[in-house]
Amino acid sequence: MKILITGGAGYIGSVTAKALEGAGHVPVILDSLLTGPRAFVRDRIFYEGDVCDRALLARVVRQHPDIDCTIHMAARIVVPESVAAPYVYYRDNVAKSLELFDELVRLGKPRMIFSSSAAVYAPPDGFEVAETSPVLPSSPYAWTKLMVEQVLRDLAAATELRAVILRYFNPIGSDPELESGVYAREPSHVLGQLVRAALGQQDAFTITGDDYPTRDGSGIRDFVHVWDVARAHVAAVEGFDAALEREGSPSTVVNVGTGRGVTVRELLASFEEVFGRPVPTRTAPPRPGDVAGAYANVDKARELLGWTSALSVADGVESALLWAGRRRDVLGYE
Ligand SMILES: NC(=O)c1ccc[n+]([C@@H]2O[C@H](COP(=O)([O-])OP(=O)(O)OC[C@H]3O[C@@H](n4cnc5c(N)ncnc54)[C@H](O)[C@@H]3O)[C@@H](O)[C@H]2O)c1
Repeated sequence: MKILITGGAGYIGSVTAKALEGAGHVPVILDSLLTGPRAFVRDRIFYEGDVCDRALLARVVRQHPDIDCTIHMAARIVVPESVAAPYVYYRDNVAKSLELFDELVRLGKPRMIFSSSAAVYAPPDGFEVAETSPVLPSSPYAWTKLMVEQVLRDLAAATELRAVILRYFNPIGSDPELESGVYAREPSHVLGQLVRAALGQQDAFTITGDDYPTRDGSGIRDFVHVWDVARAHVAAVEGFDAALEREGSPSTVVNVGTGRGVTVRELLASFEEVFGRPVPTRTAPPRPGDVAGAYANVDKARELLGWTSALSVADGVESALLWAGRRRDVLGYE
Protein backbone atom coordinates (compact mmCIF):
# COMPACT_ATOMS: atom_id res chain seq x y z
CA MET A 1 0.00 0.00 0.00
CA LYS A 2 1.04 3.59 -0.50
CA ILE A 3 0.61 5.85 2.53
CA LEU A 4 0.78 9.65 2.70
CA ILE A 5 2.43 10.75 5.97
CA THR A 6 2.09 14.42 6.86
CA GLY A 7 4.81 15.34 9.34
CA GLY A 8 6.82 12.38 8.09
CA ALA A 9 10.11 14.23 8.68
CA GLY A 10 9.35 14.37 12.41
CA TYR A 11 10.26 12.09 15.29
CA ILE A 12 7.32 9.67 15.17
CA GLY A 13 6.67 10.17 11.44
CA SER A 14 10.16 9.14 10.37
CA VAL A 15 10.06 5.99 12.51
CA THR A 16 6.57 5.18 11.23
CA ALA A 17 7.80 5.53 7.64
CA LYS A 18 10.53 3.01 8.45
CA ALA A 19 8.03 0.54 9.96
CA LEU A 20 5.72 0.87 6.95
CA GLU A 21 8.64 0.17 4.59
CA GLY A 22 9.55 -2.88 6.67
CA ALA A 23 6.01 -4.18 6.20
CA GLY A 24 6.26 -3.74 2.42
CA HIS A 25 4.41 -0.44 2.08
CA VAL A 26 5.52 2.80 0.40
CA PRO A 27 5.44 6.03 2.43
CA VAL A 28 5.00 9.40 0.71
CA ILE A 29 6.16 12.22 2.99
CA LEU A 30 4.60 15.68 3.10
CA ASP A 31 6.37 17.99 5.55
CA SER A 32 7.11 21.72 5.70
CA LEU A 33 10.34 21.06 7.67
CA LEU A 34 8.99 23.57 10.19
CA THR A 35 10.77 21.50 12.83
CA GLY A 36 11.52 18.09 11.32
CA PRO A 37 15.07 17.74 9.93
CA ARG A 38 15.66 17.02 6.26
CA ALA A 39 18.03 14.22 7.33
CA PHE A 40 15.01 12.21 8.55
CA VAL A 41 13.38 12.17 5.12
CA ARG A 42 16.38 10.26 3.75
CA ASP A 43 15.73 8.78 0.30
CA ARG A 44 11.94 8.65 0.67
CA ILE A 45 9.40 10.17 -1.72
CA PHE A 46 9.17 13.69 -0.29
CA TYR A 47 7.12 16.83 -0.87
CA GLU A 48 8.24 19.92 1.03
CA GLY A 49 5.22 22.06 1.83
CA ASP A 50 2.32 22.81 4.07
CA VAL A 51 -0.59 20.48 4.77
CA CYS A 52 -3.04 23.27 3.89
CA ASP A 53 -1.59 23.79 0.40
CA ARG A 54 -4.43 22.42 -1.73
CA ALA A 55 -2.53 22.76 -5.01
CA LEU A 56 0.34 20.75 -3.56
CA LEU A 57 -2.05 18.07 -2.25
CA ALA A 58 -3.62 17.80 -5.71
CA ARG A 59 -0.13 17.36 -7.21
CA VAL A 60 0.79 14.68 -4.68
CA VAL A 61 -2.38 12.72 -5.48
CA ARG A 62 -1.96 13.22 -9.23
CA GLN A 63 1.56 11.81 -9.02
CA HIS A 64 0.52 9.05 -6.58
CA PRO A 65 -3.05 8.09 -7.47
CA ASP A 66 -2.55 4.81 -5.61
CA ILE A 67 -2.35 6.42 -2.14
CA ASP A 68 -4.58 4.26 0.09
CA CYS A 69 -4.55 6.19 3.32
CA THR A 70 -3.19 9.34 5.00
CA ILE A 71 -1.51 9.45 8.40
CA HIS A 72 -1.85 13.04 9.61
CA MET A 73 0.96 13.70 12.07
CA ALA A 74 2.01 17.23 11.07
CA ALA A 75 1.49 19.58 13.99
CA ARG A 76 3.07 21.99 16.40
CA ILE A 77 3.65 20.03 19.59
CA VAL A 78 5.24 22.17 22.32
CA VAL A 79 2.77 22.62 25.20
CA PRO A 80 4.21 25.81 26.85
CA GLU A 81 4.57 27.41 23.42
CA SER A 82 0.87 26.70 22.80
CA VAL A 83 0.02 28.53 26.04
CA ALA A 84 2.08 31.54 24.91
CA ALA A 85 0.95 31.50 21.26
CA PRO A 86 -2.53 29.92 21.04
CA TYR A 87 -3.41 31.60 17.75
CA VAL A 88 -0.53 29.91 15.95
CA TYR A 89 -1.47 26.53 17.45
CA TYR A 90 -5.17 26.73 16.56
CA ARG A 91 -4.31 27.99 13.08
CA ASP A 92 -1.69 25.37 12.30
CA ASN A 93 -3.12 22.36 14.09
CA VAL A 94 -6.85 22.91 13.62
CA ALA A 95 -7.49 25.24 10.68
CA LYS A 96 -4.82 23.66 8.47
CA SER A 97 -6.08 20.15 9.29
CA LEU A 98 -9.54 21.21 8.10
CA GLU A 99 -8.13 22.23 4.72
CA LEU A 100 -6.17 18.98 4.47
CA PHE A 101 -9.17 16.77 5.22
CA ASP A 102 -11.51 18.67 2.91
CA GLU A 103 -9.05 18.55 0.02
CA LEU A 104 -8.21 14.87 0.48
CA VAL A 105 -11.90 13.93 0.50
CA ARG A 106 -12.35 16.02 -2.66
CA LEU A 107 -9.43 14.15 -4.24
CA GLY A 108 -11.04 10.81 -3.39
CA LYS A 109 -8.63 9.96 -0.55
CA PRO A 110 -10.94 9.65 2.46
CA ARG A 111 -9.02 7.34 4.83
CA MET A 112 -7.35 9.28 7.70
CA ILE A 113 -5.31 8.12 10.63
CA PHE A 114 -4.82 10.99 13.06
CA SER A 115 -2.13 11.50 15.71
CA SER A 116 -3.99 12.49 18.84
CA SER A 117 -2.71 12.44 22.38
CA ALA A 118 -3.36 11.17 25.89
CA ALA A 119 -3.21 14.88 26.79
CA VAL A 120 -6.92 15.11 25.86
CA TYR A 121 -8.00 13.11 28.95
CA ALA A 122 -9.29 14.67 32.14
CA PRO A 123 -7.19 13.78 35.21
CA PRO A 124 -8.61 10.33 36.01
CA ASP A 125 -9.78 9.08 39.42
CA GLY A 126 -7.52 6.05 39.22
CA PHE A 127 -4.62 6.17 36.80
CA GLU A 128 -6.03 4.09 33.96
CA VAL A 129 -7.87 5.74 31.09
CA ALA A 130 -9.98 4.05 28.43
CA GLU A 131 -11.16 5.68 25.20
CA THR A 132 -14.51 6.35 26.89
CA SER A 133 -12.95 8.16 29.87
CA PRO A 134 -13.81 11.86 30.30
CA VAL A 135 -11.76 14.35 28.31
CA LEU A 136 -10.60 17.77 29.50
CA PRO A 137 -7.52 19.19 27.80
CA SER A 138 -5.29 21.36 29.96
CA SER A 139 -3.45 23.34 27.27
CA PRO A 140 -4.19 24.92 23.89
CA TYR A 141 -2.03 22.17 22.33
CA ALA A 142 -4.22 19.45 23.84
CA TRP A 143 -7.36 21.36 22.84
CA THR A 144 -6.17 21.38 19.22
CA LYS A 145 -5.96 17.58 19.36
CA LEU A 146 -9.46 17.21 20.78
CA MET A 147 -10.87 19.73 18.31
CA VAL A 148 -9.40 17.87 15.34
CA GLU A 149 -10.85 14.64 16.72
CA GLN A 150 -14.28 16.31 16.72
CA VAL A 151 -13.74 17.67 13.20
CA LEU A 152 -12.95 14.13 12.05
CA ARG A 153 -16.05 12.67 13.74
CA ASP A 154 -18.30 15.31 12.16
CA LEU A 155 -16.72 14.97 8.70
CA ALA A 156 -16.95 11.18 8.95
CA ALA A 157 -20.67 11.46 9.71
CA ALA A 158 -21.30 13.83 6.80
CA THR A 159 -18.88 12.76 4.05
CA GLU A 160 -16.96 9.71 2.78
CA LEU A 161 -14.13 10.54 5.20
CA ARG A 162 -13.23 7.66 7.52
CA ALA A 163 -11.03 8.16 10.58
CA VAL A 164 -8.95 6.08 12.95
CA ILE A 165 -7.82 8.40 15.75
CA LEU A 166 -4.80 7.17 17.70
CA ARG A 167 -4.20 8.68 21.14
CA TYR A 168 -0.50 8.20 21.83
CA PHE A 169 0.69 8.10 25.43
CA ASN A 170 4.42 8.86 26.05
CA PRO A 171 6.60 7.77 23.12
CA ILE A 172 10.25 7.11 24.01
CA GLY A 173 13.30 5.70 22.25
CA SER A 174 14.39 5.87 18.64
CA ASP A 175 14.42 4.03 15.36
CA PRO A 176 15.95 0.58 16.13
CA GLU A 177 18.54 1.19 13.37
CA LEU A 178 19.36 4.61 14.87
CA GLU A 179 18.51 6.57 11.74
CA SER A 180 16.12 8.90 13.55
CA GLY A 181 14.98 9.77 17.05
CA VAL A 182 14.36 12.77 19.26
CA TYR A 183 15.90 15.79 17.48
CA ALA A 184 14.99 18.72 19.77
CA ARG A 185 18.17 20.49 20.91
CA GLU A 186 16.90 20.55 24.49
CA PRO A 187 14.21 17.90 24.83
CA SER A 188 11.66 18.86 27.47
CA HIS A 189 10.21 15.40 28.09
CA VAL A 190 11.36 13.30 31.02
CA LEU A 191 13.58 10.75 29.24
CA GLY A 192 15.30 13.49 27.21
CA GLN A 193 16.05 15.32 30.46
CA LEU A 194 17.44 12.12 31.97
CA VAL A 195 19.74 11.53 29.01
CA ARG A 196 21.04 15.10 29.20
CA ALA A 197 21.70 14.85 32.96
CA ALA A 198 23.40 11.46 32.55
CA LEU A 199 25.68 12.77 29.79
CA GLY A 200 26.58 15.91 31.76
CA GLN A 201 24.74 18.23 29.35
CA GLN A 202 22.80 19.59 32.35
CA ASP A 203 23.73 19.51 36.02
CA ALA A 204 20.96 17.23 37.32
CA PHE A 205 17.69 15.50 36.54
CA THR A 206 14.76 17.22 38.25
CA ILE A 207 11.82 15.15 39.48
CA THR A 208 9.01 17.70 39.26
CA GLY A 209 6.43 16.75 41.88
CA ASP A 210 7.03 14.08 44.54
CA ASP A 211 3.77 14.32 46.44
CA TYR A 212 1.35 12.75 43.97
CA PRO A 213 -0.92 9.90 45.16
CA THR A 214 1.22 7.34 43.28
CA ARG A 215 3.30 4.37 44.59
CA ASP A 216 6.30 6.61 45.28
CA GLY A 217 4.93 10.14 45.00
CA SER A 218 6.37 10.90 41.56
CA GLY A 219 4.22 11.30 38.45
CA ILE A 220 3.06 8.26 36.49
CA ARG A 221 3.25 7.83 32.71
CA ASP A 222 2.75 5.20 30.06
CA PHE A 223 6.10 5.13 28.24
CA VAL A 224 5.63 3.38 24.92
CA HIS A 225 8.54 2.66 22.59
CA VAL A 226 8.31 4.74 19.41
CA TRP A 227 8.88 1.56 17.38
CA ASP A 228 5.75 0.08 18.97
CA VAL A 229 3.91 3.32 18.15
CA ALA A 230 5.12 3.00 14.56
CA ARG A 231 3.90 -0.61 14.42
CA ALA A 232 0.48 0.54 15.66
CA HIS A 233 0.26 2.63 12.48
CA VAL A 234 1.12 -0.36 10.33
CA ALA A 235 -1.72 -2.24 12.06
CA ALA A 236 -4.08 0.72 11.58
CA VAL A 237 -3.21 1.04 7.89
CA GLU A 238 -3.57 -2.67 7.18
CA GLY A 239 -6.70 -3.12 9.32
CA PHE A 240 -8.35 0.24 8.59
CA ASP A 241 -11.58 -0.87 6.93
CA ALA A 242 -11.96 -3.97 9.11
CA ALA A 243 -11.51 -1.92 12.30
CA LEU A 244 -14.25 0.55 11.35
CA GLU A 245 -16.51 -2.25 10.23
CA ARG A 246 -16.07 -3.98 13.60
CA GLU A 247 -16.67 -0.70 15.37
CA GLY A 248 -19.80 -0.13 13.24
CA SER A 249 -18.88 3.53 12.87
CA PRO A 250 -17.14 5.76 10.30
CA SER A 251 -14.62 6.84 12.96
CA THR A 252 -13.00 5.41 16.04
CA VAL A 253 -10.56 6.36 18.81
CA VAL A 254 -7.83 3.97 19.99
CA ASN A 255 -5.31 4.36 22.84
CA VAL A 256 -1.68 3.63 21.91
CA GLY A 257 0.19 2.79 25.10
CA THR A 258 1.58 -0.22 26.91
CA GLY A 259 -1.20 -0.51 29.50
CA ARG A 260 1.40 -0.23 32.28
CA GLY A 261 1.98 2.79 34.45
CA VAL A 262 5.60 3.59 35.26
CA THR A 263 6.48 6.32 37.75
CA VAL A 264 9.20 8.87 37.10
CA ARG A 265 11.27 7.33 39.93
CA GLU A 266 10.83 3.87 38.37
CA LEU A 267 11.97 5.28 35.03
CA LEU A 268 15.00 6.77 36.79
CA ALA A 269 15.83 3.38 38.37
CA SER A 270 15.48 1.61 35.01
CA PHE A 271 17.63 4.30 33.38
CA GLU A 272 20.41 3.96 35.96
CA GLU A 273 20.40 0.20 35.53
CA VAL A 274 20.82 0.46 31.75
CA PHE A 275 23.28 3.36 32.01
CA GLY A 276 25.29 1.60 34.73
CA ARG A 277 25.82 4.71 36.86
CA PRO A 278 23.69 6.91 39.11
CA VAL A 279 22.32 10.13 37.64
CA PRO A 280 22.47 13.35 39.72
CA THR A 281 18.89 14.03 40.76
CA ARG A 282 16.93 16.70 42.62
CA THR A 283 13.24 17.16 43.37
CA ALA A 284 11.18 20.27 42.79
CA PRO A 285 7.50 21.22 43.09
CA PRO A 286 5.28 20.47 40.07
CA ARG A 287 5.44 23.01 37.22
CA PRO A 288 2.21 24.81 36.27
CA GLY A 289 0.02 22.37 34.38
CA ASP A 290 1.85 19.25 35.62
CA VAL A 291 -0.46 16.36 36.51
CA ALA A 292 -0.09 13.05 38.36
CA GLY A 293 -0.50 11.32 34.99
CA ALA A 294 -2.18 8.25 33.58
CA TYR A 295 -1.69 5.03 31.70
CA ALA A 296 -3.67 3.52 28.86
CA ASN A 297 -6.28 0.85 28.90
CA VAL A 298 -5.22 -0.97 25.72
CA ASP A 299 -8.05 -3.48 25.27
CA LYS A 300 -9.45 -1.67 22.25
CA ALA A 301 -6.10 -1.54 20.43
CA ARG A 302 -5.80 -5.29 20.85
CA GLU A 303 -9.40 -6.06 19.85
CA LEU A 304 -9.76 -3.61 16.97
CA LEU A 305 -6.24 -3.46 15.51
CA GLY A 306 -4.69 -6.67 16.85
CA TRP A 307 -1.86 -4.49 18.20
CA THR A 308 -0.07 -4.57 21.54
CA SER A 309 3.25 -3.08 22.56
CA ALA A 310 6.20 -5.48 22.58
CA LEU A 311 9.17 -3.47 23.89
CA SER A 312 9.96 -2.56 27.50
CA VAL A 313 10.86 0.70 29.21
CA ALA A 314 14.45 -0.59 29.47
CA ASP A 315 14.43 -1.13 25.67
CA GLY A 316 13.29 2.48 25.25
CA VAL A 317 15.98 3.78 27.61
CA GLU A 318 18.69 1.81 25.84
CA SER A 319 17.48 3.03 22.46
CA ALA A 320 17.43 6.67 23.66
CA LEU A 321 20.97 6.39 24.99
CA LEU A 322 22.27 4.80 21.79
CA TRP A 323 20.58 7.51 19.74
CA ALA A 324 22.16 10.23 21.94
CA GLY A 325 25.51 8.84 20.82
CA ARG A 326 24.48 8.99 17.14
CA ARG A 327 22.73 12.38 17.02
CA ARG A 328 25.81 14.35 16.05
CA ASP A 329 26.44 12.15 13.00
CA VAL A 330 22.85 12.36 11.77
CA LEU A 331 21.87 15.88 12.84
CA GLY A 332 25.14 17.74 13.25
CA TYR A 333 24.49 18.60 16.93
CA GLU A 334 24.43 16.70 20.20
N1 LIG B 1 5.96 13.06 20.75
C1 LIG B 1 4.97 12.88 21.61
O1 LIG B 1 5.22 12.69 22.81
C2 LIG B 1 3.53 12.85 21.14
C3 LIG B 1 2.54 12.41 22.03
C4 LIG B 1 1.21 12.40 21.60
C5 LIG B 1 0.90 12.82 20.31
N2 LIG B 1 1.87 13.27 19.48
C6 LIG B 1 1.49 13.73 18.13
O2 LIG B 1 2.19 12.97 17.17
C7 LIG B 1 2.47 13.76 16.02
C8 LIG B 1 3.95 13.67 15.71
O3 LIG B 1 4.68 14.10 16.84
P1 LIG B 1 6.28 14.17 16.85
O4 LIG B 1 6.73 14.05 18.23
O5 LIG B 1 6.80 13.28 15.80
O6 LIG B 1 6.45 15.71 16.42
P2 LIG B 1 7.50 16.39 15.43
O7 LIG B 1 7.46 17.85 15.73
O8 LIG B 1 8.79 15.68 15.47
O9 LIG B 1 6.84 16.13 14.00
C9 LIG B 1 5.88 16.98 13.44
C10 LIG B 1 6.28 17.23 11.99
O10 LIG B 1 5.26 18.01 11.36
C11 LIG B 1 5.89 18.99 10.54
N3 LIG B 1 4.90 20.07 10.39
C12 LIG B 1 4.41 20.87 11.37
N4 LIG B 1 3.47 21.69 10.87
C13 LIG B 1 3.36 21.39 9.54
C14 LIG B 1 2.52 21.88 8.48
N5 LIG B 1 1.61 22.86 8.69
N6 LIG B 1 2.64 21.34 7.26
C15 LIG B 1 3.56 20.34 7.03
N7 LIG B 1 4.37 19.85 7.99
C16 LIG B 1 4.26 20.38 9.23
C17 LIG B 1 7.15 19.37 11.26
O11 LIG B 1 8.14 19.91 10.41
C18 LIG B 1 7.60 18.01 11.84
O12 LIG B 1 8.46 17.32 10.97
C19 LIG B 1 2.00 15.17 16.35
O13 LIG B 1 0.73 15.37 15.74
C20 LIG B 1 1.87 15.17 17.85
O14 LIG B 1 0.90 16.06 18.29
C21 LIG B 1 3.19 13.28 19.86
